[in-house]
Amino acid sequence: MTSFWNDLPQPFFILAPMEAVTDVVFRHVDKLKQAGAPDIFFTEFANATGWVHAGDKAIAGRLIKTDDEHPLVAQIWGGEPGDMEAILSLHCAELGFDGIDINMGCPAKSAIKSGGAALIRRPDIAVAAIAAAKTAGLPVSVKTRLGYTYC
Ligand SMILES: Cc1cc2nc3c(=O)[nH]c(=O)nc-3n(C[C@H](O)[C@H](O)[C@H](O)COP(=O)(O)O)c2cc1C
Repeated sequence: MTSFWNDLPQPFFILAPMEAVTDVVFRHVDKLKQAGAPDIFFTEFANATGWVHAGDKAIAGRLIKTDDEHPLVAQIWGGEPGDMEAILSLHCAELGFDGIDINMGCPAKSAIKSGGAALIRRPDIAVAAIAAAKTAGLPVSVKTRLGYTYC
């Protein structure tokens, strides 16, 4: 598999994924690029189970992108590996993302109920989620924490 992770400058610079901030509009703000053009952009996190049950409406534009954005990584979260496989293989691969990131570090109470940092305590689910993500044929990364109690 070719991967943009192998072709980055050293050191490389990533704009952290931020919900309600790093959407497609923000990523196109000229000042952002002038101030410190990141080498990689991430989307906001999008919930896999929400998408499986209610489609695009459930993720409210979080995965909207333009074709000229590279490299761009889709960040997904959830606690159901089957739902992750569905959104990643059916949706993200088709949209033309360069990579997939699984959010395993979000400490928000609403995320911990069904994924986020809770996956640190559920290694079986974490392993299954990574395996599910790999079926999309894109490079997979994980954003996590040093430990659950550091949330
Ligand atoms: C408003 C806001 C939204 C965030 N949304 C996400 C997100 O969607 N996915 C994620 O992995 N982290 C999210 N984060 C965490 C950031 O990506 C980052 O890890 C965190 O802010 C720590 O970096 P800092 O010390 O540079 O702020 C968010 C942070 C903020 C402040």
